[in-house]
Amino acid sequence: MSFLPKPHGGKLIQAYNPSYDWSGIENVIQIDAIALSDLELIGVGLFSPLTGFLGKKDYESVVENMRLADNTVWSIPVTLPVSTEVADTLKAGETYKLVFQGEVYGVISVSEWYEPDLEKEALNVYKTVELAHPGVRRLFERGPVYVAGEIVLVKKTDKGVFADVWYEPKQTRAFFEEKGWKTIVGFQTRNPIHRAHEYIQKAALETVDGLFVNPLVGETKADDIPADVRLKSYRVLLENYYPGDRVQLGVYPAAMRYAGPREAIFHAIARKNFGCTHFIVGRDHAGVGNYYGTYDAQHIFSYFTEEELGIKPLFFEHSFYCTKCEGMASDKTCPHTKEDRVILSGTKVREMLRSGILPPATFSRKEVVEVLIEGLREKETV
Ligand code: ADX
Repeated sequence: MSFLPKPHGGKLIQAYNPSYDWSGIENVIQIDAIALSDLELIGVGLFSPLTGFLGKKDYESVVENMRLADNTVWSIPVTLPVSTEVADTLKAGETYKLVFQGEVYGVISVSEWYEPDLEKEALNVYKTVELAHPGVRRLFERGPVYVAGEIVLVKKTDKGVFADVWYEPKQTRAFFEEKGWKTIVGFQTRNPIHRAHEYIQKAALETVDGLFVNPLVGETKADDIPADVRLKSYRVLLENYYPGDRVQLGVYPAAMRYAGPREAIFHAIARKNFGCTHFIVGRDHAGVGNYYGTYDAQHIFSYFTEEELGIKPLFFEHSFYCTKCEGMASDKTCPHTKEDRVILSGTKVREMLRSGILPPATFSRKEVVEVLIEGLREKETV
């Protein structure tokens, strides 16, 4: 008997078929890096129950109600954008090769295509239409027409430096079972892991069997620390500070949307598909700039029942090192003032790292900082 949650929608989608014969297909749709990542993640079931890129009914329902047309909770549209010129050549019912940089990665049976109301999508999903928001900018830059249809993944991407930590949901589910973990908490991050992250992860781990450290390595905005550099820092942190038999590292290969609350729901669902029973949501989860309130990504969970989400969020207050407490704490546990707390913004830390300045050990582990500074330096000299 399995203790793991059922995949979202009840079934783990498996749409990978390397022997699919596409040699007779001449129709081609060129896809970008984000669509490639979405294609692969639909194919391996991380986005279960999706079997393809959203059709108009599902899309409108997701934008308006955070649910697919059949009422399943789904908060972020997963769509395949194309230009109007490409859309004009499409034929419903036909199969198209999905091509990225000259290679065929999948096929789509085109069921329909439609012009989305991008302003509405931006407002509902990102809560703003400002192009300064990286998710909104990308939304408007990508095509004005969305193509829908079921996909088959015919080729997986090259995993490069992520090869040994790139797991499909069926693999994570198998090793969670193997380890005998009944409760597993998933942790999302697009940053290096700092002491505050470590604190909330370990606080969560005190109450469950296993911790799945699951950093996002898909597309991020240009000034975020590159994923390959971060990966080295995760490895060194886990080696030095985490118990090997309770913690598993694996990457989350999706693109970052920066959609704050809505993305927190999306992140939780994907982690459920990986087999997690719990998911950490701290301060300003998946946020950027000042677009979302500090705890909006926690409040959004109250729109849904625990049964329909099928994964339990674990909420954490803003955490920091307090020099008077002489340890990690949060507003909930620390009575001292702002002046006693070590709080650095992500932007400030990135600036420090890029100039080779070590953030204090109360903010980030020394081993992590060293790997990051070295990794960023190597990038600059390439
Ligand atoms: S995210 O865009 O991937 O969410 P980040 O890597 O900063 O951003 O955060 C990863 C997770 O840790 C999120 O759940 C976030 O809410 C949480 N978090 C980040 N910093 C803190 C902090 N200082 N205190 C509490 N939670 C935090």
